[in-house]
This record gives sequence, C-alpha cells and structure tokens, in this order.
Amino acid sequence: MNYNKKSVESIDVKGKRVLCRCDFNVPTKGGKITSDKRIVAALPTIEYLMKHGAKVILCSHMGKPKGEWKPELSLKIVADRLSELLGKEVIMAADVVGEDAKAKAAALQEGDVMLLENVRYIKGETKNDPELSKELASMADIFVNDAFGTAHRAHSSTAGVADYLPAVCGYLVQKEVSIMGKALADPARPFVAILGGAKVSDKLNVINNLLEKVDTLIIGGGMAFTFLAAKGYDTGKSLLDTEKLDYCREMLKKAEEKGVKLLLPVDTVVASAFPSPIDAEIEVKTVDSASIPADMMGLDIGEKARAEFAEAAKTAKTVVWNGPMGVFENPTLAQGTIAVAQALADSDAVTIVGGGDSAAACEQLGFAREITHISTGGGASLEFLEGLELPGIACLQDAE
Ligand code: 3PG
Repeated sequence: MNYNKKSVESIDVKGKRVLCRCDFNVPTKGGKITSDKRIVAALPTIEYLMKHGAKVILCSHMGKPKGEWKPELSLKIVADRLSELLGKEVIMAADVVGEDAKAKAAALQEGDVMLLENVRYIKGETKNDPELSKELASMADIFVNDAFGTAHRAHSSTAGVADYLPAVCGYLVQKEVSIMGKALADPARPFVAILGGAKVSDKLNVINNLLEKVDTLIIGGGMAFTFLAAKGYDTGKSLLDTEKLDYCREMLKKAEEKGVKLLLPVDTVVASAFPSPIDAEIEVKTVDSASIPADMMGLDIGEKARAEFAEAAKTAKTVVWNGPMGVFENPTLAQGTIAVAQALADSDAVTIVGGGDSAAACEQLGFAREITHISTGGGASLEFLEGLELPGIACLQDAE
C-alpha cells in the first residue's frame, strides 16, 4: 500500500469548509476525560486549518453507541476540552448531519471550528452507508482524515466520504504513517520487536509479518506460554491457546529459517491463581520457564527475562513494542512491563510503542517523553504492523 499521501498542506483551504475526521474516542470516567492525548494529538492539524482560513467541521466517534442516541457518549466534553486547548470556543452541533449541524456548518466564518455529534449515533456510519457519506460530504468542500486510531475502519466518516470530496491526510496521520512505515520498510538495524498481550490469536499476522522484517522478535505476556508449550515445556495453569500450538511451532521454525532470534522469557513470575480483583495483593514466586509447577500460572516475566529483553532493546537501533509483559494492572505483576518501558526509555534507538495497553503503560509510568513515538492507534497500529491496508488511509489522494 502507498502511504505517501497528499497532506493538508497540498490543498488550498482558505474560505473552504473542511470536514476533518479526528479520533476523539477518549477514555472517560464519571463524565470526565481521563486522558486528552488524542485531542492534543489532533491540535496541529486543527490549528493549521484555522490559521489558513478554513471553516473547520470536526467529526469523530466516541465508544460504540451502535446507532443509538446515548447521551453519555456525547462529544460535548471533547468540545469543551478542545475549546480550552485552542483558546477559542468550539461550536457544538446538536446532531450529526441534521438541521442543527447543517445550519451551524453553513454559518461558519473563516477560522471557526465546530464539532459534529458522535457520528456513531447514526446507524449507517459503521456500515459505510453511502447515504451518510454523501450527507457528511454535502456539508464540506474538502475531507481531511487525521483519525489514525480509526484508520483501520472502513466507515462513512473514515473512508466513505472520500468518494465524494477531495481527500487528504492531516499531520497526525502523516506522522504515524511515516514513523511506523519507515520502521517497517527501511529500519535502522538491529531491529527488535517486542510483543506481549494475552492471546497469540490476537497477533497471528503481526508475528508472521514481523518475522519477515526484524532481527530479533521478543515474545512475552500471556501469549508466551503457547510458544513455551509449543517447545514442549510444561506451562502449568498458564494461559494456553491450544488451537495455536501448531501455529507457534511454525513461527519458531520460520524464525530459525530466517535467522531471526526469537526470545521467550527464560523465567516467569507465577502464582496459584489469577488475582481477583485484578489489583489484589498476590503471593508470587519466580521459576524457570521450563519448569512451571502444574498448580501455578505464569503472570509476568521474571527478572532474568527482564534483563535479557532490556539488553536487546538497549543495543537495538529500532524497537517496536506492542502489548504488556504481564498482568500490569496489578502492581506486583507490573514489573516486567515496567522493565520493558524503562528499557525503551533508556535506549538510543528509534522507539515506537504501538498504542493500546503498552502506550497507556508508558504514559502512566511517566516514560512517554523518552519514547520516539507512541501511536494514538490501538487496533489501527496492530493492523499497520500486520502489513494490512488501512481503509482510512487508502482512500486518500496519493502524493505526486
Ligand atoms: C480506538 O479506540 O482504538 C479507536 O478509536 C477505534 O475504536 P473502535 O475499536 O470502537 O472502532
């Protein structure tokens, strides 16, 4: 797929109505935003459009209202936060493509910014309904996609609308694609990928695709146990994807054939049961990964594995990390994930964290500033690492 797309700078936006898809699907608690990272990440494009005299119509989803008008998923809280960040009132539409939105869009002056209501309040959005795409397009002259986090969705507001308007990318999409694209296409070597998370089945194609590109592939987290079992180790009560044992054997073989070093944790932090609640105090011990007791389950990587993984990250020139090393929501079982985040922060390599839980971990631990790039996409960055075409980017005009 060609990721070299026309950007907002390649099109004259002065006096034009610009529909700009952002990913304002921010985490909230009790009606308050708990991380405004995605809103802050959208600012460069919005500010560019304002400064260059566009009439800006912002659009996003929040959560999964499935076509229902759920007030708790209103984007009003985003409009309020964005108004603070821009130092200018963001006009909030009462609907998506209804009378209020259309009237407000028509009344915009150059440099004004408005936000449509949650686009997933309309059923057609997730079905990529051409009628909704046309309605959205009818409010604007130009489409800018800056929603990297939603670029893996072929929805009306992320891809369909590009059938009816000139479509270019914003700065966030450009940045995500150029940093991650370069890492995959032309990485400085050694190139190390660190994958974690619970299930092998969530990352089948990521593992397969990365084995074509990396020098070292590190596998930790719950998914490591299926690989350990595939090597013939007893993994006790640890999480096991029995249907994926053959797949893991195939991947171990592929790594060997390609000369890729595949590292699994040499030691494991085990406990007799999964913590409940997840952050409950828990008694643990560390054992060799080749001899996990039958009545125990692995819940984090051990100290030797942490040191080995950290060393690989420190001596690399490019590191991509996706997925926690253990049950990081529990302080006793977060040490492996902390060690990896710390190793990326200490490394001189180009370090890329592929969204989701590992991005949240870097931010919570205060390592975010030491990382070259933390993706705003969870599912989108995974699909990018899989080498899949992202519909929200494929639909944009190619750069010349
Ligand atoms: C995300 O949070 O990963 C994006 O906003 C996409 O959300 P979705 O999984 O609901 O499409």
